[in-house]
Amino acid sequence: MKSKLLHISTIGCQMNVYDADQIAGVLAPLGYTGTDAIETADLVVVNTCTIREKAEQKAFSFLGRLAKIKAANPSLIVAVGGCVAQQEGQAILKRMPHVDLVFGTHAIFRLPEMVRRIEQTRCRLVDVRMSDAIDSDSALVGPLAPGQVSAFVTIMRGCDNFCTYCVVPHVRGREASRHPDRIIEEIRMRVDQGVREVTLLGQNVNSYGNKEGLCSFSELLERVNDIPGLGRIRFTTSHPKDLSDDLIGAFGRLKKLCRHIHLPVQSGDDEILRRMNRRYTRAAYMDKVARLRVQCPDIAITSDMIVGFPGETDRQFQATLDLIRTVRYDGLFAFMYSDRPSAPATAFSGKIDERVKKARLQTLLDLQAGITAEKYQAMLGQVRTVLVEGTSRSLDHFTNPAGDGGLQWTGRTSSNHIVHFPADEGNSGDKELLTGAFADIMIETAHAHSLGGRLIQGPMGATPEKGEKTIAA
Ligand code: SAH
Ligand code: SF4
Ligand code: F3S
Repeated sequence: MKSKLLHISTIGCQMNVYDADQIAGVLAPLGYTGTDAIETADLVVVNTCTIREKAEQKAFSFLGRLAKIKAANPSLIVAVGGCVAQQEGQAILKRMPHVDLVFGTHAIFRLPEMVRRIEQTRCRLVDVRMSDAIDSDSALVGPLAPGQVSAFVTIMRGCDNFCTYCVVPHVRGREASRHPDRIIEEIRMRVDQGVREVTLLGQNVNSYGNKEGLCSFSELLERVNDIPGLGRIRFTTSHPKDLSDDLIGAFGRLKKLCRHIHLPVQSGDDEILRRMNRRYTRAAYMDKVARLRVQCPDIAITSDMIVGFPGETDRQFQATLDLIRTVRYDGLFAFMYSDRPSAPATAFSGKIDERVKKARLQTLLDLQAGITAEKYQAMLGQVRTVLVEGTSRSLDHFTNPAGDGGLQWTGRTSSNHIVHFPADEGNSGDKELLTGAFADIMIETAHAHSLGGRLIQGPMGATPEKGEKTIAA
């Protein structure tokens, strides 16, 4: 079979990153291998996101730029997938004559058949059919990048929560969970390929399995925890309303579960939360945070925030700031509210001026930057075990004393903090040496988004953190 080149461009959340792997996986039997060079590709897949207006605009501007590339290479097949594809369907073909295929979020497994038809007949196709049941679930995940130590594993798709600002239930469909046996198989396969850490993905992992009567999410975690050779488990995202005591308890029970939870709150004001249809109160959220900290005192907590939701008063925004000060998050993703087609809040009155949204966002980010800096300072002098992900280039004089853009090692703590440490001390240059190993690092410097440290125990002697003792590095 003639080898053909596939370029996948992904915008959006981790789900899209996972989907990109699956797209590569399902297209491999047709002879497609990946390339970074878009100009030489035979097939370009644009994997899109529509969570906010900007993401959608980004997708269309990228697609617009492909027109030139297609003009230079008329045999190129241009395929649009992901959430914009699901939302816009046929309209994309009308608007963009250089697009050959639009496939929705449930159509990945039908992709090979469609690409084959286009190769043979040069027809233009749209497939945005959705189904409530999850696909036959033949987990055709794609190849790993060389040295990849961490992988995503989707455990469910869709969302039934219908937060009033959100497009996800409309473009990803109803919530459906994969069978636990398939998930375990996929993780075992990844471990055999060299992966040491998995992140289980779902829009609301806390309700995993409920609909289908499969096991609960904490039961799934127990099974994943038992997989030999796996060192760390992460998951995202947790909806606060469904965070059960059982799952909170898992942070105390399961050795491999990382000490981090992403628990999006969106707002600190009860009236805004009600109008967002989040179905918890600020007090209920704070209670869960307190219980998490009882189970696991050093758990890192991160969150998503929306500023400028329709009708948000300055007093209500102050309540959000107050919540941030009280929780003292380890990190925040904050967004200006954005109207989305099909999301009910688009029709709400009291839209907030863009300048006000921008100012609120900046105030919130400044507050969090101060908290992050204080938390980083408190980590100085501590020893943390990191899972080493590989090397990167550094201009920083601490991690790379030459300050010349030379190599530094990069890893993550259980709490998901990024740590760099020098690639000297006899370990420089050899990418194999530490990648995938656990190493003890003395934290010595704090930057805006990462920490710097010094290797005090190599992989063989790394002090086991929760669960990491199973790793023979
Ligand atoms: N399922 C996850 C969130 C997925 S979307 C959860 O419920 O936590 C990621 C984040 O994008 C959301 O948490 C929210 O903060 C933000 N977001 C979603 N829709 C948005 C909109 N219309 N405008 C601005 N931010 C939005
Ligand atoms: Fe969107 Fe809410 Fe579902 Fe998250 S839980 S994906 S914010 S509808
Ligand atoms: Fe975007 Fe779709 Fe994810 S809208 S955030 S790619 S689920």
